[in-house]
Amino acid sequence: MKKSMAVLATLLLMAACAYAKNEISIQTKQTQLVLQVKDDGRLYQTYLGERIEGVSDLSVFDMPRLRRSHTLSRGFETYPVLGTEDFFEQALEIQHADGNPTSVLKYVSHEQLAREGYTETIIRLRDEVYPLSVTLHYAAYPDYDVIRQWSEIQHDEKGKVYLGRYYSSMLYFEEDSYFLTEFASNHSKEMQMLSQQLLFGKKIIDSRLGTRAAMFAQPFFEVGLGGPVREEEGTVLMGTLGWTGNFRFTFEIDNNGALRILSGINPDASRYLLARGNVFRTPDFYFTLSNRGLGEGSRRFQRWMLRHQLHMGSADRMTLLNNWENTHFDFNEQSLGALCGEAKSLGVDLFLLDDGWFGNKYPRSNDKAGLGDWEPTREKLPGGVPALVRAANEQGVEFGIWIEPEMVNPKSELAEKHPDWLLRLPERDTYYQRNQLVLDLTNPEVQDFVFGIVDHLMQENPRLKFFKWDANSPITNAYSTFEKDRQGNLFVDYVNGLYSVLQRIQQKYPQLYMMMCSGGGGRSDFEGLRYFTEFWLSDNTDPVERLFIQWGYSQFMPSKAMCAHVTNWNRQASVKFRLDVAFSCKLGFDISLKDMAASDLKYCQQAIAEYNRLKPVIFSPDLYRLVSPYDTPHCALMRVTEDRGHALLFAYDTHPRYGEAIVPTRLRGLDPQSRYRVREICLMEGQKSNLACHGKVYSGDYLMKAGLMVLGRGKLTSHIIELTKE
Ligand code: GLA
Repeated sequence: MKKSMAVLATLLLMAACAYAKNEISIQTKQTQLVLQVKDDGRLYQTYLGERIEGVSDLSVFDMPRLRRSHTLSRGFETYPVLGTEDFFEQALEIQHADGNPTSVLKYVSHEQLAREGYTETIIRLRDEVYPLSVTLHYAAYPDYDVIRQWSEIQHDEKGKVYLGRYYSSMLYFEEDSYFLTEFASNHSKEMQMLSQQLLFGKKIIDSRLGTRAAMFAQPFFEVGLGGPVREEEGTVLMGTLGWTGNFRFTFEIDNNGALRILSGINPDASRYLLARGNVFRTPDFYFTLSNRGLGEGSRRFQRWMLRHQLHMGSADRMTLLNNWENTHFDFNEQSLGALCGEAKSLGVDLFLLDDGWFGNKYPRSNDKAGLGDWEPTREKLPGGVPALVRAANEQGVEFGIWIEPEMVNPKSELAEKHPDWLLRLPERDTYYQRNQLVLDLTNPEVQDFVFGIVDHLMQENPRLKFFKWDANSPITNAYSTFEKDRQGNLFVDYVNGLYSVLQRIQQKYPQLYMMMCSGGGGRSDFEGLRYFTEFWLSDNTDPVERLFIQWGYSQFMPSKAMCAHVTNWNRQASVKFRLDVAFSCKLGFDISLKDMAASDLKYCQQAIAEYNRLKPVIFSPDLYRLVSPYDTPHCALMRVTEDRGHALLFAYDTHPRYGEAIVPTRLRGLDPQSRYRVREICLMEGQKSNLACHGKVYSGDYLMKAGLMVLGRGKLTSHIIELTKE
């Protein structure tokens, strides 16, 4: 035993010394990050960029690029702590038990371990004076060119130790110019892409909303290095934080023009009291560094999400009919039974019952009461949920249900029974968003309660297939009875409490489909999607707006996770146009079929059959964004299967200008040597394709170099075009 331990230790030591000069190389197929321990015993970033092949002596990274005269002469410390030489924002700030606010981290050891699908580099750092250790983790996925990084912080001090900030990562770049694209949001206006050049000083993107964290800013960014971000060219860093709560990205350009990017939990209002011996694990920061523009970066993230992160990433998805836009709170057992029948006749897989099915003392007939009381309203639904599941199943569709388990209306039995479970400030007026408050998920009793909502429904209805999990309010009155004198821990512990509930659900019901929703797209992060199979992008289902919202999310998210429903928003657009926009994502409907023209209903039925046939293409991560709605009154994108044998081209005209010159759309991602049959699909009954390319065969080379005339001058027109390799 002792001998094998010794062998293991030697192997680890050998790994630790494998690189010259204590250099650590973290690499994927295309990207390389090199860290180095310098003479002062501290760890520095010496290179981050395109992978350099065939280099055996990593000391060539001895900073040819970094020899400028830095005020901070020691270089780019990998994980700088508020210490003795801090000129710029640090990744970590710790106040020790004796009040000393500084730390100095020295390298101790590192190892590189082969994991399933990635290599994990673990680097241990320690303060030589205080019993404080920090471990940096880097998971490099070679085939996907994605790097995931996080850190772990631990101390062994007797008194109170506070973390003032605790970013997940710090990355440095030295380029002539930097251009940031951020994703500004609001309810019904999610993922609006805004770009600006970063100049000297700081730019921060953050959230302090707690539960509905991404309502105003989404946790994604893109930085063009040496030029603005472009779709198919140029070097771009794409980054995101996996944290279903307050996040912060800080972009700081220093006195020498170097860019520092810090990503992590927003430490604002979150001075964290770290108990002795506990490990503070930061959330994961994910990045990809593409030198072929955003398109390549998006494809990497989408492939990686499907393979490594998204819950049930390789499983199928169900088309559905939701009742929210159609009925709001106004339904009963009979009308829902009829809607299940409509779902069947439409041809979707599942009927999803939305808000308004629960509450007896305070029935949920509007959004003012009942939230928290997860008993079906007897008057509306005498047979409870079992009768509804039965009705759906008997008619040949699956059944799904809406819950908002983290929230409560003060007018509810739950709030009356457990006033201490509500986040609410003492001695202050209470501020409500949508007449509701947030439950205190830092409290294990509340975690049990929330888990119990799903567990009870599943025990009672084992055939329930789908949950829509909503969260409509931000944390508005941040005070937890449970956290007592640790109020700074609330926002962080809340999210960890939520994850522990979601983990329990996933362990017990691993096949359950769950949609993450937060008053539209108020939650949309990578960590959340380890538990959810999909997410709701926006309550705004106007197809024109959706083109922008979907364009934004598609930068990072796979189509399989992006729920898009056909509704009555924007009746100027035909049902075909609305459906054709939703068709490129995870398709659903939230519309009354009774009010639909027969020809439209027929179109939907046929389109659903096509959708089912084409899922392998629609859900392919290989997305090519061709014509941006931000640049033109059109939009075009395509998806291609991995073998390049099958592709779909989506072409939309929103509001073309008078006399506008329309040019052919050049396709991408095809095999230039192969020949493809081009066929417009999803036509209305009796409609003939007006595209000259319809029915013809072209080489991939032609399609990518000459292109096809698929955009036009008609307002709100759309074409879905299938390309099949001959
Ligand atoms: C939120 C969701 C909607 C719907 C309502 C129900 O706004 O985004 O889709 O579920 O709640 O109250």
